[in-house]
Amino acid sequence: MKNLLSMEHLTNRELISIILRAEEFERGEQHNLCRSYNVANLFFEPSTRTSTSFEMAERKVGCTVIPFDASFSSALKGESMYDTVKTLEMIGIDAVVIRAKEEAYYNELLEGINVSVINAGDGAGQHPSQSLLDLYTIHKEFGQFDGLNVTIVGDISHSRVAKSNAIALRNLGVNVRFLCPQEWAGDFEAHHSWDGLLEDSDVVMLLRVQHERHENNKNFSKESYHEQYGLTVEREARMKKGSIIMHPAPVNRDVEIASELVECERSRIFDQVRNGVFIRMAILESILKGREINDEVHSKYSIAR
Ligand code: CP
Repeated sequence: MKNLLSMEHLTNRELISIILRAEEFERGEQHNLCRSYNVANLFFEPSTRTSTSFEMAERKVGCTVIPFDASFSSALKGESMYDTVKTLEMIGIDAVVIRAKEEAYYNELLEGINVSVINAGDGAGQHPSQSLLDLYTIHKEFGQFDGLNVTIVGDISHSRVAKSNAIALRNLGVNVRFLCPQEWAGDFEAHHSWDGLLEDSDVVMLLRVQHERHENNKNFSKESYHEQYGLTVEREARMKKGSIIMHPAPVNRDVEIASELVECERSRIFDQVRNGVFIRMAILESILKGREINDEVHSKYSIAR
């Protein structure tokens, strides 16, 4: 794997291999495996979790992290993404982690660039490292994917997390359902009420309402969204035994989810953040070292190869 751009490009074997490697890292497997590599993090959109957990993962696998401040870079003078990345390549960077506002920004980097590109979110396109950490969280909980019911709730059309997870989860045999207002469904078929979804969901995955991507949200009411689509205390009480709540965060408390549920027993919201470090270590190792898929480890998971 030279780059990580979209979940569409990953086979089930590759993604399970990354999940199982993350598990080894979490168990304390040797960390300093990528000591000779230089990495830069280019965040052109705001981030707390993805940027800091990539940097933590880079340091844990032994990379040298070269500082890059997008808000004080020559991109502000009009330098293109291609020229920025090519410049970093010439300086000696081996991999760049990029978050950008433009969907599929990476297309302009596929020819002529030799550094590896890890997509940390492209507009409303894809968020593969978030999807992998979500899969890792589900794997840790259920030990398998086939036949699980996952309900993804919220701002689907603007959500790169929903798109990445829909691809990966369906490829793994998960029954994925969407719940949102019709105007946020995009290309997906969606439910518009919780009826029949709560009681059999193994995972309720809530999404942030992305006001910054809405052209007109003057009529949006937090209270009525919460009442119709939010995970309220009353709804949580009806969830299936053993089911979990996920949210990629940041969370709009009392909009997508009642504030008192954010750290409730079912919630894995902060565990997802912790899992992200191990997943990103596995991603970095796979990309920088070209780690082979280990069939022995892999055979523990019964999926189509
Ligand atoms: N989940 C996620 O991508 O969070 P950040 O925007 O804080 O990185």
